[in-house]
Amino acid sequence: MSVLEKITSADAIMLEDKYGAHNYHPLPVVLSRGEGVHVWDVEGKRYYDFLSAYSAVNQGHCHPKIIGAMMGQAETLTLTSRAFYNDQLGRYEEFVTNYFGFDKVLPMNTGAEAVETAIKLCRKWAYERKGIAEHEAKIIVCENNFHGRTTTIISFSNDENARKNFGPYTAGFIKIAYDDIDALENVLKTEKNIAGFLAEPIQGEAGVYVPAEGYLAKAKELCESHNVLFIADEVQTGIARTGKLLAVHHENVQPDILILGKALSGGAYPVSAVLANDSIMNVIKPGQHGSTFGGNPVAAAVAIAALEVVQDEKLAENAEKLGKLFREKMNEYIATSNIATLVRGKGLLNAIVINDTEDSSTAWDICMAMRDNGLLAKPTHGNIIRFAPPLVMNVEQLMDCIGIITKTLKAFEK
Ligand SMILES: Cc1ncc(COP(=O)(O)O)c(C=O)c1O
Repeated sequence: MSVLEKITSADAIMLEDKYGAHNYHPLPVVLSRGEGVHVWDVEGKRYYDFLSAYSAVNQGHCHPKIIGAMMGQAETLTLTSRAFYNDQLGRYEEFVTNYFGFDKVLPMNTGAEAVETAIKLCRKWAYERKGIAEHEAKIIVCENNFHGRTTTIISFSNDENARKNFGPYTAGFIKIAYDDIDALENVLKTEKNIAGFLAEPIQGEAGVYVPAEGYLAKAKELCESHNVLFIADEVQTGIARTGKLLAVHHENVQPDILILGKALSGGAYPVSAVLANDSIMNVIKPGQHGSTFGGNPVAAAVAIAALEVVQDEKLAENAEKLGKLFREKMNEYIATSNIATLVRGKGLLNAIVINDTEDSSTAWDICMAMRDNGLLAKPTHGNIIRFAPPLVMNVEQLMDCIGIITKTLKAFEK
């Protein structure tokens, strides 16, 4: 079949099934176009996107400013590798470091790569600045974390599906309960050779778990007092998603190492980044880390445009306002419902908990019915459905979506 021929949903699914590795379980909908808060399937049906490619498309699908920057740069120079300088990277590095308030950035492509980068940076800092003996550095992580899929990252996951039969695992991680400040304090007091504490400010994949107010600020304070680096993985929560530029800003925290990805390009291109100040970042010397595509001119141009859109269109403020409205309306519905038990989240990163067992298919069935009703969302874990629309949504569209969601849920009431 020629790639230019029109394809049906059934054929597209069949091809993926036959020729692609089965490493995902997508909702059966085949998308061929996106604009703003909407996507269209190959048969021309329109949907509200309520996942935003796991919070990558915060700026909306095919944002003209971002696509314009990408096209312009793609026609001019796409890749030099870091063997040479290019005329975009330095400009982007100045822009992004000023934007987030750090001395330096290390550019990568995917979220997982950026997490790997942060881990390497933290370890190297620990050996060369903190004075930990070689191979002894440990990083504290949280239970039910999700930081990506590389061998090192799954080494400290407690998702058996993600881990099983991928060992041997990378050593040097201590896992503690999330949102448990005493557990963190205890480990910092009792364990030697701690280099860093790596955490998501809200656990997205786990089911949008928002820690207690004050947790992040206290964690940062404890890290500081033990000379341990606080590493915030804001790949999913960052870039206006939770109603602030970064989720740590809700508690006025500036991490020692900041990890960004996804919406750094508005979903147009794989762009990720690790930011830190000189006292940390300067431990990395030529040859010790990198990526052929990291910091390429297209990525640099796209990321500047994507971050400008966030500011120009006040997306953090919009996420804050719409998120409140969403939870208020969902709570009103939940008070009368026996199918949804809870809504939680911050800004426009939210989830509802479905009143059924974790291994039931109800959340999946609800997502299928929402699809039929024109809205796309996906269960995270078992009975939890994440709701994360593009941040360019307006109140009228959100109310329309709330109507679709509640109408669908009502059909599942027992
Ligand atoms: C918090 C967090 N970190 C890292 C990642 C990995 O990003 P990527 O899929 O781009 O490797 C994700 C992806 O969902 C994430 O949510």
